[in-house]
Amino acid sequence: MTTLAVLTSGGDAPGMNTAIRAMVKAASERQIRVVGVLQGYDGLMNGEFVGLSNLAQDASMARLLGEDIDRIGGFGGTVLGSARSRRFIEPEGRAQAAQQLRDQSVDALIVIGGNGSLTGAHAFAQEHGIPVVGVPASIDNDIGCTSTAIGVDTALNTIVWACDHISDTARAHHRAFVVEVMGRDCGYLAMASAIAASADAALFREQGRTESEVIAAVDEAIRRGFSQERRKRRVLIIKSEGVKVPCQSMVETLNARLADTSPRIEVRGSVLGHVVRGGAPTYGDRMVAGRLALAAVDAALSGVSDQMVAWQPEIAGGHPTVDPAVVTFPLADVLKETEALLDGSSVVTQGRVRMMERVQGVLGL
Ligand code: F6P
Repeated sequence: MTTLAVLTSGGDAPGMNTAIRAMVKAASERQIRVVGVLQGYDGLMNGEFVGLSNLAQDASMARLLGEDIDRIGGFGGTVLGSARSRRFIEPEGRAQAAQQLRDQSVDALIVIGGNGSLTGAHAFAQEHGIPVVGVPASIDNDIGCTSTAIGVDTALNTIVWACDHISDTARAHHRAFVVEVMGRDCGYLAMASAIAASADAALFREQGRTESEVIAAVDEAIRRGFSQERRKRRVLIIKSEGVKVPCQSMVETLNARLADTSPRIEVRGSVLGHVVRGGAPTYGDRMVAGRLALAAVDAALSGVSDQMVAWQPEIAGGHPTVDPAVVTFPLADVLKETEALLDGSSVVTQGRVRMMERVQGVLGL
Protein backbone atom coordinates (compact mmCIF):
# COMPACT_ATOMS: atom_id res chain seq x y z
CA MET A 1 0.00 0.00 0.00
CA THR A 2 1.48 3.34 -1.01
CA THR A 3 -1.41 5.65 -1.85
CA LEU A 4 -4.81 6.41 -0.31
CA ALA A 5 -7.44 8.64 -1.89
CA VAL A 6 -10.05 10.51 0.13
CA LEU A 7 -13.18 12.30 -0.96
CA THR A 8 -16.08 14.09 0.69
CA SER A 9 -19.50 13.61 -0.84
CA GLY A 10 -23.13 14.64 -0.40
CA GLY A 11 -24.18 17.31 2.07
CA ASP A 12 -21.07 18.74 3.71
CA ALA A 13 -20.80 18.39 7.47
CA PRO A 14 -18.66 20.26 10.03
CA GLY A 15 -15.81 17.94 10.92
CA MET A 16 -15.19 16.64 7.42
CA ASN A 17 -12.02 18.74 7.32
CA THR A 18 -10.95 17.40 10.70
CA ALA A 19 -11.27 13.89 9.30
CA ILE A 20 -9.19 14.83 6.24
CA ARG A 21 -6.52 16.36 8.48
CA ALA A 22 -6.39 13.28 10.68
CA MET A 23 -6.15 10.97 7.67
CA VAL A 24 -3.31 12.95 6.15
CA LYS A 25 -1.40 12.92 9.43
CA ALA A 26 -2.05 9.25 10.20
CA ALA A 27 -1.12 8.16 6.69
CA SER A 28 1.95 10.38 6.46
CA GLU A 29 3.26 8.91 9.68
CA ARG A 30 3.05 5.51 7.99
CA GLN A 31 4.74 6.87 4.82
CA ILE A 32 1.49 6.51 2.86
CA ARG A 33 0.63 9.17 0.31
CA VAL A 34 -2.83 10.75 0.48
CA VAL A 35 -4.48 12.26 -2.55
CA GLY A 36 -7.60 14.31 -2.17
CA VAL A 37 -10.38 14.08 -4.71
CA LEU A 38 -12.09 17.39 -5.46
CA GLN A 39 -15.90 17.71 -5.69
CA GLY A 40 -16.83 14.23 -4.51
CA TYR A 41 -17.62 11.47 -6.99
CA ASP A 42 -17.91 14.00 -9.84
CA GLY A 43 -14.27 14.99 -9.33
CA LEU A 44 -13.31 11.34 -9.05
CA MET A 45 -14.79 10.53 -12.44
CA ASN A 46 -13.15 13.66 -13.91
CA GLY A 47 -9.76 12.85 -12.40
CA GLU A 48 -9.56 15.93 -10.17
CA PHE A 49 -6.88 14.95 -7.67
CA VAL A 50 -4.71 16.99 -5.38
CA GLY A 51 -1.79 15.82 -3.26
CA LEU A 52 -2.49 16.28 0.43
CA SER A 53 0.44 14.61 2.12
CA ASN A 54 3.28 16.33 3.81
CA LEU A 55 5.45 13.82 1.99
CA ALA A 56 8.07 15.14 -0.39
CA GLN A 57 6.47 14.12 -3.68
CA ASP A 58 3.19 15.90 -2.95
CA ALA A 59 1.99 19.41 -3.14
CA SER A 60 1.28 20.25 0.46
CA MET A 61 -2.05 21.52 1.75
CA ALA A 62 -0.48 24.94 1.52
CA ARG A 63 -0.71 24.66 -2.26
CA LEU A 64 -4.34 23.57 -2.17
CA LEU A 65 -5.59 26.35 0.02
CA GLY A 66 -2.79 28.60 1.03
CA GLU A 67 -3.45 27.13 4.45
CA ASP A 68 -1.70 24.86 6.85
CA ILE A 69 -2.94 21.31 7.35
CA ASP A 70 -3.32 21.95 11.08
CA ARG A 71 -5.65 24.86 10.44
CA ILE A 72 -8.01 23.23 7.99
CA GLY A 73 -9.20 20.79 10.65
CA GLY A 74 -11.01 23.66 12.33
CA PHE A 75 -12.83 24.85 9.21
CA GLY A 76 -16.49 24.19 8.44
CA GLY A 77 -17.57 22.79 5.07
CA THR A 78 -15.05 20.69 3.20
CA VAL A 79 -11.84 21.96 1.64
CA LEU A 80 -12.11 19.21 -0.99
CA GLY A 81 -15.56 20.34 -2.10
CA SER A 82 -18.54 18.05 -2.37
CA ALA A 83 -21.29 17.10 -4.79
CA ARG A 84 -24.42 15.00 -5.02
CA SER A 85 -23.35 13.07 -8.11
CA ARG A 86 -25.96 11.70 -10.51
CA ARG A 87 -23.35 10.18 -12.86
CA PHE A 88 -21.85 7.96 -10.14
CA ILE A 89 -25.20 6.23 -9.74
CA GLU A 90 -24.59 4.64 -13.16
CA PRO A 91 -22.14 1.73 -13.56
CA GLU A 92 -20.39 3.58 -16.43
CA GLY A 93 -19.62 6.48 -14.09
CA ARG A 94 -18.18 4.14 -11.50
CA ALA A 95 -16.03 2.38 -14.13
CA GLN A 96 -14.64 5.76 -15.17
CA ALA A 97 -13.86 6.54 -11.52
CA ALA A 98 -12.07 3.19 -11.09
CA GLN A 99 -9.88 3.94 -14.10
CA GLN A 100 -8.94 7.34 -12.69
CA LEU A 101 -7.89 5.72 -9.41
CA ARG A 102 -5.81 3.12 -11.25
CA ASP A 103 -4.14 5.87 -13.28
CA GLN A 104 -3.17 7.56 -10.01
CA SER A 105 -1.95 4.21 -8.54
CA VAL A 106 -4.42 4.58 -5.68
CA ASP A 107 -4.60 1.44 -3.51
CA ALA A 108 -7.70 2.29 -1.49
CA LEU A 109 -10.42 4.93 -1.35
CA ILE A 110 -11.92 6.52 1.77
CA VAL A 111 -15.36 8.05 1.31
CA ILE A 112 -16.57 10.58 3.89
CA GLY A 113 -20.30 11.14 3.48
CA GLY A 114 -23.87 10.16 4.20
CA ASN A 115 -26.42 7.68 3.00
CA GLY A 116 -26.21 8.38 -0.76
CA SER A 117 -22.42 8.55 -0.67
CA LEU A 118 -22.14 5.25 1.20
CA THR A 119 -24.57 3.62 -1.24
CA GLY A 120 -22.20 4.69 -4.03
CA ALA A 121 -19.20 3.44 -2.04
CA HIS A 122 -20.82 0.02 -1.58
CA ALA A 123 -21.60 -0.38 -5.29
CA PHE A 124 -18.09 0.73 -6.22
CA ALA A 125 -16.42 -1.63 -3.72
CA GLN A 126 -18.41 -4.56 -5.09
CA GLU A 127 -17.55 -3.87 -8.73
CA HIS A 128 -13.97 -2.77 -9.14
CA GLY A 129 -11.66 -4.56 -6.73
CA ILE A 130 -10.42 -1.26 -5.29
CA PRO A 131 -10.86 -1.33 -1.50
CA VAL A 132 -13.27 1.27 -0.13
CA VAL A 133 -13.81 2.34 3.49
CA GLY A 134 -16.72 4.62 4.42
CA VAL A 135 -16.72 7.28 7.15
CA PRO A 136 -20.17 8.48 8.29
CA ALA A 137 -20.76 12.21 7.92
CA SER A 138 -24.23 13.74 7.93
CA ILE A 139 -25.64 16.40 10.21
CA ASP A 140 -28.97 14.51 10.11
CA ASN A 141 -27.67 11.50 12.11
CA ASP A 142 -29.49 9.24 9.66
CA ILE A 143 -26.82 6.59 9.08
CA GLY A 144 -27.27 3.06 10.34
CA CYS A 145 -24.94 1.17 12.70
CA THR A 146 -23.30 4.29 14.13
CA SER A 147 -24.52 6.20 17.15
CA THR A 148 -23.43 9.51 15.64
CA ALA A 149 -21.95 10.91 12.47
CA ILE A 150 -19.53 13.71 11.71
CA GLY A 151 -21.40 17.04 11.84
CA VAL A 152 -24.23 16.13 14.20
CA ASP A 153 -22.75 17.73 17.31
CA THR A 154 -21.95 21.03 15.59
CA ALA A 155 -25.39 21.18 13.97
CA LEU A 156 -27.04 20.62 17.35
CA ASN A 157 -24.92 23.30 18.98
CA THR A 158 -25.87 25.74 16.20
CA ILE A 159 -29.56 24.95 16.60
CA VAL A 160 -29.44 25.39 20.37
CA TRP A 161 -27.56 28.68 19.93
CA ALA A 162 -30.15 29.91 17.41
CA CYS A 163 -33.06 28.84 19.61
CA ASP A 164 -31.56 30.68 22.58
CA HIS A 165 -31.36 33.84 20.46
CA ILE A 166 -34.89 33.40 19.16
CA SER A 167 -36.11 32.78 22.71
CA ASP A 168 -34.67 36.13 23.84
CA THR A 169 -36.79 38.09 21.40
CA ALA A 170 -39.76 35.74 21.79
CA ARG A 171 -39.81 36.37 25.57
CA ALA A 172 -39.70 40.11 25.05
CA HIS A 173 -42.99 39.92 23.09
CA HIS A 174 -44.62 36.88 24.72
CA ARG A 175 -44.59 35.16 21.35
CA ALA A 176 -44.63 31.62 20.12
CA PHE A 177 -42.04 30.55 17.56
CA VAL A 178 -41.92 27.65 15.16
CA VAL A 179 -38.27 26.98 14.31
CA GLU A 180 -37.58 24.63 11.42
CA VAL A 181 -34.35 22.66 11.44
CA MET A 182 -32.77 20.50 8.74
CA GLY A 183 -33.43 16.79 8.48
CA ARG A 184 -34.95 15.69 5.20
CA ASP A 185 -35.88 12.16 6.22
CA CYS A 186 -34.77 11.93 9.82
CA GLY A 187 -36.04 14.02 12.74
CA TYR A 188 -33.10 13.44 15.06
CA LEU A 189 -31.93 17.09 15.02
CA ALA A 190 -35.42 18.28 16.00
CA MET A 191 -35.73 15.64 18.75
CA ALA A 192 -32.31 16.20 20.32
CA SER A 193 -32.35 19.99 20.06
CA ALA A 194 -35.87 20.22 21.51
CA ILE A 195 -34.60 18.74 24.74
CA ALA A 196 -31.40 20.82 24.80
CA ALA A 197 -33.17 24.11 23.95
CA SER A 198 -36.08 23.41 26.31
CA ALA A 199 -38.65 23.60 23.54
CA ASP A 200 -42.34 23.10 24.29
CA ALA A 201 -42.79 20.52 21.54
CA ALA A 202 -40.88 18.78 18.79
CA LEU A 203 -42.40 17.90 15.43
CA PHE A 204 -40.77 15.18 13.36
CA ARG A 205 -41.72 12.94 10.47
CA GLU A 206 -41.37 9.76 12.53
CA GLN A 207 -44.44 10.77 14.60
CA GLY A 208 -46.48 9.90 11.51
CA ARG A 209 -49.04 12.68 12.15
CA THR A 210 -51.32 14.19 9.54
CA GLU A 211 -51.14 17.92 8.86
CA SER A 212 -54.26 18.61 10.94
CA GLU A 213 -52.90 16.52 13.81
CA VAL A 214 -49.65 18.51 13.70
CA ILE A 215 -51.50 21.84 13.72
CA ALA A 216 -53.79 20.73 16.55
CA ALA A 217 -50.82 19.59 18.66
CA VAL A 218 -48.97 22.88 18.17
CA ASP A 219 -52.11 24.93 18.85
CA GLU A 220 -52.56 23.05 22.09
CA ALA A 221 -48.91 23.42 23.13
CA ILE A 222 -49.07 27.18 22.51
CA ARG A 223 -52.35 27.71 24.40
CA ARG A 224 -51.08 25.56 27.27
CA GLY A 225 -47.79 27.47 27.45
CA PHE A 226 -49.47 30.86 27.68
CA SER A 227 -52.35 29.70 29.89
CA GLN A 228 -53.01 31.23 33.34
CA GLU A 229 -51.55 28.10 34.98
CA ARG A 230 -48.29 28.14 33.03
CA ARG A 231 -47.82 31.84 32.25
CA LYS A 232 -44.82 31.16 30.02
CA ARG A 233 -43.13 34.10 28.34
CA ARG A 234 -42.30 32.21 25.20
CA VAL A 235 -43.37 28.99 23.55
CA LEU A 236 -40.87 27.28 21.29
CA ILE A 237 -41.80 24.58 18.79
CA ILE A 238 -38.98 22.85 16.91
CA LYS A 239 -40.11 21.41 13.59
CA SER A 240 -38.07 19.05 11.49
CA GLU A 241 -37.80 19.78 7.77
CA GLY A 242 -39.21 16.29 7.15
CA VAL A 243 -42.64 17.36 8.45
CA LYS A 244 -44.12 18.40 5.15
CA VAL A 245 -46.07 21.43 6.28
CA PRO A 246 -44.16 24.56 5.17
CA CYS A 247 -43.11 26.62 8.19
CA GLN A 248 -44.69 29.86 6.95
CA SER A 249 -48.04 28.30 6.14
CA MET A 250 -48.02 26.59 9.54
CA VAL A 251 -47.45 29.97 11.19
CA GLU A 252 -50.27 31.58 9.18
CA THR A 253 -52.68 28.79 10.08
CA LEU A 254 -51.75 29.05 13.75
CA ASN A 255 -52.15 32.84 13.81
CA ALA A 256 -55.61 32.45 12.28
CA ARG A 257 -56.55 29.80 14.85
CA LEU A 258 -55.25 31.91 17.72
CA ALA A 259 -57.08 35.05 16.61
CA ASP A 260 -59.59 34.52 19.45
CA THR A 261 -56.96 34.71 22.22
CA SER A 262 -56.82 37.61 24.64
CA PRO A 263 -54.27 39.00 25.03
CA ARG A 264 -53.65 38.00 21.44
CA ILE A 265 -51.00 35.30 21.03
CA GLU A 266 -48.70 35.94 18.10
CA VAL A 267 -46.77 33.23 16.32
CA ARG A 268 -43.62 33.74 14.25
CA GLY A 269 -41.57 31.28 12.23
CA SER A 270 -37.90 30.88 11.45
CA VAL A 271 -36.32 28.39 9.06
CA LEU A 272 -32.71 27.84 10.08
CA GLY A 273 -31.89 25.96 6.85
CA HIS A 274 -28.27 25.74 5.74
CA VAL A 275 -27.06 27.87 8.66
CA VAL A 276 -27.22 24.62 10.62
CA ARG A 277 -24.82 22.87 8.24
CA GLY A 278 -22.02 25.42 8.36
CA GLY A 279 -19.60 26.67 10.96
CA ALA A 280 -16.45 25.49 12.65
CA PRO A 281 -16.69 21.96 14.05
CA THR A 282 -17.18 21.63 17.80
CA TYR A 283 -14.83 19.68 20.05
CA GLY A 284 -17.27 16.75 19.89
CA ASP A 285 -17.19 16.62 16.10
CA ARG A 286 -13.42 17.08 15.96
CA MET A 287 -12.93 14.25 18.41
CA VAL A 288 -15.28 11.83 16.61
CA ALA A 289 -13.98 12.83 13.16
CA GLY A 290 -10.37 12.40 14.19
CA ARG A 291 -10.91 8.98 15.71
CA LEU A 292 -13.08 7.70 12.87
CA ALA A 293 -10.47 8.93 10.39
CA LEU A 294 -7.64 7.18 12.18
CA ALA A 295 -9.63 3.95 12.28
CA ALA A 296 -10.49 4.33 8.58
CA VAL A 297 -6.82 4.68 7.62
CA ASP A 298 -5.93 1.65 9.74
CA ALA A 299 -8.80 -0.34 8.23
CA ALA A 300 -7.74 0.56 4.69
CA LEU A 301 -4.12 -0.37 5.45
CA SER A 302 -5.16 -3.74 6.80
CA GLY A 303 -7.08 -4.57 3.63
CA VAL A 304 -10.62 -3.95 4.90
CA SER A 305 -13.04 -3.08 2.10
CA ASP A 306 -16.75 -2.40 1.62
CA GLN A 307 -17.06 -1.44 5.30
CA MET A 308 -17.82 1.70 7.28
CA VAL A 309 -16.13 2.80 10.47
CA ALA A 310 -18.80 3.46 13.08
CA TRP A 311 -18.89 5.37 16.37
CA GLN A 312 -20.16 2.87 18.92
CA PRO A 313 -18.71 3.60 22.34
CA GLU A 314 -21.47 1.76 24.19
CA ILE A 315 -22.88 -1.26 22.39
CA ALA A 316 -21.22 -4.44 21.28
CA GLY A 317 -21.21 -5.72 17.71
CA GLY A 318 -19.12 -5.02 14.65
CA HIS A 319 -15.45 -5.77 14.07
CA PRO A 320 -13.05 -4.09 16.51
CA THR A 321 -10.50 -1.49 15.41
CA VAL A 322 -7.53 -0.04 17.27
CA ASP A 323 -9.93 2.40 18.93
CA PRO A 324 -12.32 0.85 21.49
CA ALA A 325 -15.08 3.31 20.51
CA VAL A 326 -14.82 2.56 16.79
CA VAL A 327 -15.90 -0.62 15.03
CA THR A 328 -16.45 -1.45 11.37
CA PHE A 329 -19.62 -2.78 9.79
CA PRO A 330 -20.11 -4.12 6.24
CA LEU A 331 -21.59 -1.35 4.10
CA ALA A 332 -24.43 -3.68 3.12
CA ASP A 333 -25.48 -3.87 6.80
CA VAL A 334 -25.11 -0.11 7.20
CA LEU A 335 -27.38 0.56 4.21
CA LYS A 336 -29.98 -1.94 5.41
CA GLU A 337 -30.04 -0.39 8.88
CA THR A 338 -30.18 3.12 7.36
CA GLU A 339 -33.29 2.11 5.44
CA ALA A 340 -34.83 0.78 8.65
CA LEU A 341 -33.91 4.02 10.46
CA LEU A 342 -35.76 6.02 7.85
CA ASP A 343 -38.82 3.78 7.42
CA GLY A 344 -39.25 3.52 11.19
CA SER A 345 -38.69 -0.23 11.54
CA SER A 346 -35.30 0.17 13.28
CA VAL A 347 -35.21 -0.25 17.05
CA VAL A 348 -33.11 2.91 17.12
CA THR A 349 -35.89 4.97 15.49
CA GLN A 350 -38.50 3.32 17.69
CA GLY A 351 -36.37 4.11 20.74
CA ARG A 352 -36.00 7.75 19.69
CA VAL A 353 -39.75 8.12 19.13
CA ARG A 354 -40.51 6.39 22.46
CA MET A 355 -38.10 8.68 24.22
CA MET A 356 -39.78 11.73 22.68
CA GLU A 357 -43.21 10.40 23.65
CA ARG A 358 -41.99 10.04 27.22
CA VAL A 359 -40.70 13.61 27.41
CA GLN A 360 -43.62 15.13 25.48
CA GLY A 361 -45.53 16.02 28.62
CA VAL A 362 -42.43 17.35 30.29
CA LEU A 363 -41.28 19.58 27.42
CA GLY A 364 -44.01 22.16 27.87
CA LEU A 365 -43.56 22.48 31.63
O1 F6P B 1 -27.05 16.90 4.52
C1 F6P B 1 -28.38 16.51 4.76
C2 F6P B 1 -29.24 17.67 4.53
O2 F6P B 1 -28.76 18.67 5.36
C3 F6P B 1 -30.73 17.49 4.73
O3 F6P B 1 -31.13 17.64 6.05
C4 F6P B 1 -31.29 18.54 3.81
O4 F6P B 1 -32.61 18.24 3.41
C5 F6P B 1 -30.36 18.47 2.67
O5 F6P B 1 -29.11 18.12 3.19
C6 F6P B 1 -30.23 19.74 1.87
O6 F6P B 1 -29.39 19.47 0.81
P1 F6P B 1 -28.92 20.53 -0.25
O7 F6P B 1 -27.86 21.35 0.39
O8 F6P B 1 -28.43 19.71 -1.39
O9 F6P B 1 -30.11 21.37 -0.59
